[in-house]
Amino acid sequence: MARRSRVALKVAAWAVCLAPLAVLLYHAGTRDLGANPISFVTNWLGDWTLRLLLASLAMTPLRLLFGLSWPLALRRLLGLFAFAYATLHFSVWLVLDHFFDWREMGADIVKRPYVTVGMTALALMLPLAATSTTAAIRKLGGRNWQRLHRLAYAIGVAGVLHYLWLAKKANPTPYYYAAVLVLLLAIRAGNWGRRRVARLGSTATLPAVSRNRLGALSPSGPRPGEGPRTA
Ligand code: HEM
Repeated sequence: MARRSRVALKVAAWAVCLAPLAVLLYHAGTRDLGANPISFVTNWLGDWTLRLLLASLAMTPLRLLFGLSWPLALRRLLGLFAFAYATLHFSVWLVLDHFFDWREMGADIVKRPYVTVGMTALALMLPLAATSTTAAIRKLGGRNWQRLHRLAYAIGVAGVLHYLWLAKKANPTPYYYAAVLVLLLAIRAGNWGRRRVARLGSTATLPAVSRNRLGALSPSGPRPGEGPRTA
């Protein structure tokens, strides 16, 4: 992708990711936060955390399905914005809901499974955010970094569970998010399965290829001008 298009794409992504925060600030500025402002702000930030999280998880499937390269340039940015929104979402709970009452917060985490799962998702996001720099990738090594960043899927699952657990039964929205996550996971699993089969296939044919090569040197091997025989 050309450098100019890459920069334009990133600028557009920054604008899209910051827009929900700007709209929230507008709502706050115009005192339009509904009957329960704390709940409004928490839910707004929670919704955008989950949307950005799923968007970042969708980048690799987009490349796999359509062969596009540009989504990969956005994966890290979207993931970091998801982390920023999650931190704000958590801060509202910490400051406005409980005002640093650690005992009350501890009880909330233990008593309400949806808070436990939300905290788990946020805790899992920390190492990913901390290792999102190019220097961290170099230090960890590509393979280890990739392994660590597979946690993004566990975070997606925890985020969706958090929402499923806290939402009213009649609310279908968390099920839509769950369906998107299942689809993204299925695409990744399908690709992983295909690659594994291809790898197994290539190791199975390797001895046959070696045999043909060796055959070329043996008395009973192919004569000059004869192609390698298949096993
Ligand atoms: C990756 C992490 C997280 C994601 C994706 C997430 C997502 C969400 C979503 C989608 C909602 C519902 C929004 C709605 O009903 O429209 C929500 C609500 C909520 N979340 Fe989270 N959340 C995360 C972490 C946390 C953490 C760490 C806490 C606190 C410890 C937390 C506490 C809450 C609370 C209390 C609500 C309910 C607010 C209310 O109904 O008034 N969440 N979250």
